Amino acid sequence: MDNKAEKIIIFDTTLRDGEQSPGAKLNVEEKLAIAKQLARLGVDVIEAGFAFTSPGDFAAVSKIAQTVGTEDGPIICSLARAIKADIEAAAEALKPAVKGRIHTFISTSDIHLEYQLRKSRSEVLAIAEEMVAYAKSFMADVEFSPMDAARSDPEFLYQVLEKTIAAGATTVNIPDTVGYTTPSEFGAIIKGIKDNVPNIDQAIISVHGHNDLGLAVANFLEAVKNGARQLECTINGIGERAGNAALEELVMALHVRRQYFNPFLGHAVDSEEPLTNIDTKQIYKTSRLVSNCTGMLVQPNKAIVGANAFSHESGIHQDGVLKNKLTYEIMDAQLIGLTDNQIVLGKLSGRNAFRSRLKELGFELSDTELNKAFVKFKDIADKKKEITDWDLEAIVNDEILQSPELFRVELVQVSAGSNAKPTATVTLRTPSGEELTDAAIGTGPVDAVYRAINRVVNVPNQLIEFSVQSVTAGIDAIGEVTIRLRYEDRVFSGHAANTDIIVASAQAYVNALNRLYAALQVKAKQEEVIA
Ligand code: KIV
Ligand code: ZN
Repeated sequence: MDNKAEKIIIFDTTLRDGEQSPGAKLNVEEKLAIAKQLARLGVDVIEAGFAFTSPGDFAAVSKIAQTVGTEDGPIICSLARAIKADIEAAAEALKPAVKGRIHTFISTSDIHLEYQLRKSRSEVLAIAEEMVAYAKSFMADVEFSPMDAARSDPEFLYQVLEKTIAAGATTVNIPDTVGYTTPSEFGAIIKGIKDNVPNIDQAIISVHGHNDLGLAVANFLEAVKNGARQLECTINGIGERAGNAALEELVMALHVRRQYFNPFLGHAVDSEEPLTNIDTKQIYKTSRLVSNCTGMLVQPNKAIVGANAFSHESGIHQDGVLKNKLTYEIMDAQLIGLTDNQIVLGKLSGRNAFRSRLKELGFELSDTELNKAFVKFKDIADKKKEITDWDLEAIVNDEILQSPELFRVELVQVSAGSNAKPTATVTLRTPSGEELTDAAIGTGPVDAVYRAINRVVNVPNQLIEFSVQSVTAGIDAIGEVTIRLRYEDRVFSGHAANTDIIVASAQAYVNALNRLYAALQVKAKQEEVIA
């Protein structure tokens, strides 16, 4: 590579900003599984959470720092407000990481200063400078974000950036917090920073943006052309409100159109050198894992990872693709790992074959987890002749990533049909170990099952989303059910996979109820402490 040639740093914030999507709350095990997959994907930085906000967040950042933040692993980062206690919590949680980063922020737009912070510009300037220096006293790698930068007065923004870089910020991140800017405006903001902040060459310019107008990815690509070298993004574009810029879209745009972007990064126009460190073949798998864990479904027409992204419906397109793929395809599905779907195991495969294929797929399970997953594998292999990698992933995700297990489905039995009243009987094991059975009639078999479960669990809630997808093609495919339910103002998701979609529906519902039940237990404990 040419000496001046640069790469784009991919900063993944799925576990922090992504988790701020309603109902996308993840537990520590799920966060760890996602972080491991992000490391395999090749992201440069993982924003693992916001350590100060809760003991759960602190534990997740710390566990990821310890497990994924290895010598050759990514930088592990924690968000922190420009407040001493936040910065201390971030530094403490990041201690186990070989490469840690504190990301501290404070708003700089007048509207935030006046209504939210109730502080003057000079007060904010002083806090930003002082807190970056404080973060620097814990670690060398410090990122600073002037929140709502895109709506801030440029002159004030330049001043804040100059002072925070002087105080030790090694990355300055420019957020379009409310997703308001257009690509040319955002590009101009980055150019303005490059031209007007005297010490800007001592820091990397990063961008962060929300998708309220559907422009986040376009804004980032314009920012790259104007000097941004770090992109903050999430898998499947999940995040606060309309989400964040989608990692897979940014990476594939930089890959497919590298001849266009090469000159902006100091590469020869026809250079084949990758512009990011991402292993694009891991994209699809990462997208599925994040969707399964968060319960945030990927819309079928979503760029890169949507179910229709590589399928051609029109006869003219199909004809063209059969003659030459390039007539209607700008990238090969294999590039994102979509067709790496080998038939690997079957009914006669033993535990060793199962364990070693899982290892090749990147799953490192404890003996207990392996045993649980193997039982499920055998059960599915009895019903389904060929088990593919996608099936294996569904099995592992289903068995391993579902905790806390407070209620457990022991039995589901339904009777339904054109001339029958859909009736369900369910038996659940309760948190105290008791087995309770109840039955109900519904408008369909799933409704009947959910009513019967509700009679046992007895926590009123509203089902707001229910979806079934098949993992692979074929009549014997595993069906994945994802559901979201609302309790008061909170959303909880559940996911399960089974060759029987009624059983998967029951398990997904109970998984969501378990999350809800666990949240209620935490709330009750907090109230007990206060009382
Ligand atoms: O959107 C935003 O401004 C943020 C900051 C904390 C970087 O998420
Ligand atoms: Zn954000």
